[in-house]
Amino acid sequence: MPELVSLGPKPPAAAPANAGPRRTVFVHTFGCQMNESDSQRMVELLGQAAWSPVSLPEEADLILVNTCAVREKAEQKLLSALGRYREHKARRGTVIAVAGCVAQAEKERLLKRVPYVDFVFGPDHLAELPGMVARAARERFAETGWMDSEEYLFPRADPEAARGRATAFVTAMKGCDNVCSFCIVPHTRGREVSRPAAEVVEECRRLAEVGVREVTLIGQNVNSYRGGCDFATLLRRVAALEGVARIRFTTSHPHDLSDALVEAFRDEPKVMPHFHLPVQSGSDPVLARMRRDYTVAGYLERFDRLLAARPGIAITTDFIAGFPGETEEDFEASVRLLARARFDNSFSFVYSPRPHTGAVRRLGSAPEWAEVPREVAVARLERLQAVQRRLSAEALASRLGSDVEVLVEGPGDEEGWRRGRTPHNHLVHFAASEARAPAGALLPVRVTRAGGSSLSGELR
Ligand code: SAM
Ligand code: SF4
Ligand code: F3S
Repeated sequence: MPELVSLGPKPPAAAPANAGPRRTVFVHTFGCQMNESDSQRMVELLGQAAWSPVSLPEEADLILVNTCAVREKAEQKLLSALGRYREHKARRGTVIAVAGCVAQAEKERLLKRVPYVDFVFGPDHLAELPGMVARAARERFAETGWMDSEEYLFPRADPEAARGRATAFVTAMKGCDNVCSFCIVPHTRGREVSRPAAEVVEECRRLAEVGVREVTLIGQNVNSYRGGCDFATLLRRVAALEGVARIRFTTSHPHDLSDALVEAFRDEPKVMPHFHLPVQSGSDPVLARMRRDYTVAGYLERFDRLLAARPGIAITTDFIAGFPGETEEDFEASVRLLARARFDNSFSFVYSPRPHTGAVRRLGSAPEWAEVPREVAVARLERLQAVQRRLSAEALASRLGSDVEVLVEGPGDEEGWRRGRTPHNHLVHFAASEARAPAGALLPVRVTRAGGSSLSGELR
């Protein structure tokens, strides 16, 4: 157990051994695209204050751990990563900061639990990072207050940092106003705030200007966007930008899959034919306990509308196995839904009880909230994943022999190979030089091999 420490002022720390005009930062990112994007913004902000990113923690003057709290395992990973970073602090005085969702949920408690963490800050405080690093020389602190929609300024992407990249995330909104009973995110990311549409469109335009071809609009519940227009209108406005070739977005709640959004998929070829539409369970009673506010029939109705509007669209999803009270019958309903929908891919997880959630308060309180034994939940998860592996392999195999347009993202795993993505979001490897297939090029590739999770092919 880490000892308790005071949170007051610190004795002056020795300057890092190699303190010079530019200092170095190593960022370790856990979690979702929101965190990936926040980490990029942090590196960009620090870059303006004379910090350079490094790829090894032992070379860093500052280690920033951007954390995820969505499942218990993610939190455990944070603690073991911090344990590893402790020696760098001992050796060279490295400053250690914890950002993201665990920081927001744990606040000062994290400073008490891990005495070698210098400061902790929640997602709303990202823009203050350079000032917080300076403050960390004087005291240990936690910045985890919320800002409301009037106060909050979305950090802007620095287009120069994206030069040479094919794709970029653009934040459209933050937070989540839903109350899914399993999910800690509303507690860690706060209320929904949409970024003004003009700002989102302008950021996309500036990214396109430096060569970014694909933008992914992100938010925890991005299709409930209300930044002066609805989400479908925002997609159309971004699609009207000349340099933007592809638009994606993540992540969406089924109840915000409006007719207008389905129509945007029908009419707007730049909106890529892939939709991540998390369902969580194939059983209505489980969905009701999860507070997902749709039924399986309602979900399938939206699913079918999407397919009709954009035939061939790849629909992916999330499932939770072993939610409290999930019976064999409930679980079989999830397997049936998976087989009926033939999802292109799905991400499935064993239910993890999270603090500050509705489900954890009821866990074990009544038969319908009975805890599912871990070994049962794991066996169910494995079964779902086995069915999905087969479906995903079949979806990929169906592309064999076809020509697909690939947006080149960068080098492949092997010398002389490049990697990119199809409109349906499938990863493709193909042999080519960088000169022939630079990042950002849109090239036709004939699919010659389909693996379990990616394709390979030949340039046409
Ligand atoms: N906003 C998205 C939605 O409404 O579907 C989901 C975002 S959540 C960060 C990503 C996924 O993590 C969820 O779709 C869910 O499957 C999974 N997840 C969230 N809380 C979980 C928990 N307590 N245990 C297991 N999986 C969880
Ligand atoms: Fe979590 Fe539900 Fe919000 Fe998604 S919609 S982030 S699952 S509370
Ligand atoms: Fe994790 Fe926070 Fe994202 S809990 S999934 S990093 S919003």
